[in-house]
Amino acid sequence: MAIKKVMVIGAGQMGAGIAQVCAQSGFNVVLNDMNEEALQKGMKNIEKLLTRAVEKERITNTDKTDTLNRLTSSTQLKDARDCDLVIEAVVENMDVKTKVFSELDGFAPKHAILASNTSSLPITEIAAATNRPDQVIGMHFMNPVPVMKLVEIIRGLQTSDETFNAIQTMTNELSKTPVEVKDFPGFVSNRVLMPMINEAIYTVYEGVASPEDIDTVMKLGTNHPMGPLTLADFIGLDTCLYIMEVLHEGFGDSKYRPCPLLRQYVKAGWLGKKTGRGFYQYS
Ligand code: NAI
Repeated sequence: MAIKKVMVIGAGQMGAGIAQVCAQSGFNVVLNDMNEEALQKGMKNIEKLLTRAVEKERITNTDKTDTLNRLTSSTQLKDARDCDLVIEAVVENMDVKTKVFSELDGFAPKHAILASNTSSLPITEIAAATNRPDQVIGMHFMNPVPVMKLVEIIRGLQTSDETFNAIQTMTNELSKTPVEVKDFPGFVSNRVLMPMINEAIYTVYEGVASPEDIDTVMKLGTNHPMGPLTLADFIGLDTCLYIMEVLHEGFGDSKYRPCPLLRQYVKAGWLGKKTGRGFYQYS
């Protein structure tokens, strides 16, 4: 199946990045968000990143114009009606995602593949909200999408080989590297990463060291390009908490319990870089 037109739902940090990469790779893209302000912010961010890429001579001005010409915006899910692929990147919450998928199932053409960028939620359960579970798949991009090369491709219980092959091919067309993983909580990336981030938060909570010092230890001591608390701020502390909850519930093992300090920060609205404050402050 040839994928030509893509809708990306959710114009936040992931959705805008996914839309940008798809448009830069020659796909026609509709970026959708139910919140008009978030949609405009996402569109502006894409333009800003493309302008910066032109300034750094990574792309030409014509590339930028062509990319923007392939991109449109929408606040209505019914605009999926002529899309071959829909990639959902809304908040990491099962109720919200299943509602989006069941509505989408009514609007997207029969042949369309419905993908979720979920970091940790079961694809099989998301797929069950539709009448086409064989055409539902996980397409887990990494943050920031234009920079990071990996896409975890998650097969739900009923995902067909045809769907998997189409998404694998498309991922290569985006100049990303696909890795196939099974539908287990946290997949591979977050099952390994999030407990480390949660443990770093526990070390702040227990007063073992300051956030700066914890990040320095991990950068200089274990050769991580970025400390775990800086990374948590970039991912979004709400997303980190959701993922820990999914791991905790999915495996039923207390080693995945979210740190109380993480819960407290999320309750305070300190969600990291996107709200200006997390473990660090951002202007
Ligand atoms: P975000 O909070 O930056 O953006 C979410 C966007 O979805 C918001 O603009 C919101 O208005 C919109 N939205 C919410 N409900 C909607 C609906 N029903 N219809 C249309 N739009 C809706 O979140 P972010 O960080 O972009 O995460 C999105 C997804 O990507 C989550 O599932 C997350 O787990 C996943 N993800 C996040 C990564 C990260 O580093 N932040 C990395 C990889 C995956």
